Amino acid sequence: MRIVIVVGGAKAQAWRDTIASHLRDAQIDIWQPGFTQPADFAVGWTPPPQFFIDQPRLRAFFSVGAGVEHVLHNPNLPADLPIVRVEDAGMGEQMVDYCRFEVLRWMQRRDEYVAQQAAGVWEPLDSAFSRTEWPVGVFGLGVLGRQVASAFAADGFPVNAFARSSAATEPGVQLFAEADGTDRFEAFMRATKVLMILAPLTPATQDKFNRDTLRLLPRGSYVINVARGGLIVDEGLLELLDSGHLNGAALDVFRTEPLPAEHRYWSHPRVRVTPHTAAVTPLGPASKQIADKITQLAANQNVTGIVDRGRAY
Ligand code: GLV
Repeated sequence: MRIVIVVGGAKAQAWRDTIASHLRDAQIDIWQPGFTQPADFAVGWTPPPQFFIDQPRLRAFFSVGAGVEHVLHNPNLPADLPIVRVEDAGMGEQMVDYCRFEVLRWMQRRDEYVAQQAAGVWEPLDSAFSRTEWPVGVFGLGVLGRQVASAFAADGFPVNAFARSSAATEPGVQLFAEADGTDRFEAFMRATKVLMILAPLTPATQDKFNRDTLRLLPRGSYVINVARGGLIVDEGLLELLDSGHLNGAALDVFRTEPLPAEHRYWSHPRVRVTPHTAAVTPLGPASKQIADKITQLAANQNVTGIVDRGRAY
């Protein structure tokens, strides 16, 4: 069996070696322009257009992350090539911690205490410490969103979740399903104080959170985006942060990454920026998961995590 790795930069070798440690009999190469030996499986991130021309015999493409839009946008992607995403592999736990950290920081007004300390000010601030006053709303109840929703429910927060299908349920989570009618989105937003965006970027979610939809959140709400920058219209979010309708935003993902130096997010007092690190693919567990699925596909068995091209995730 031949496998080709198409990951840019220094990480390619680590992916190659870790997958090789699980698939001792496979021939595993790192793709570079001009490499045309046909492989059976590819493992990668943002393959260049030429990649699929050079690799006409692939049986599946494995994304080394949870998101797959970087593959779906490729102009030469064969229509029938199965694309497989990483399922959790430890990313859910990181997402939970990211969201918990931001919510606790806002609940406890820690940014203001940091500023007070810098100014030598001792001034207890009013705050809503009760978790019941912090209903969170998880947009997207996939592998990762589900973990965030259950963790917050277990912590005692009221949890709302918005999902495409009403079949998706989670104990302790109030589900607002798209399948139940479009007004459920509005009800979901109105019931939420901290919006957590965990849905993939698809034609259906692109620009979903704009001035009009974000305004549905109650005054003084917060936004966390750990999914993709394209779900938020930046001008709308900034306008609502400027006007004070929204109290804060923690953003890990952006329309353009790295976030351009002149972007207002960098210096906005209500915005926290992290460089797309809310959930980093853990090499060990993810490589094992991919290697196991390659073995299963090679034996003509079914695997989970195959992207539905119609839904785009
Ligand atoms: C990271 O953004 C991923 O899709 O895993």
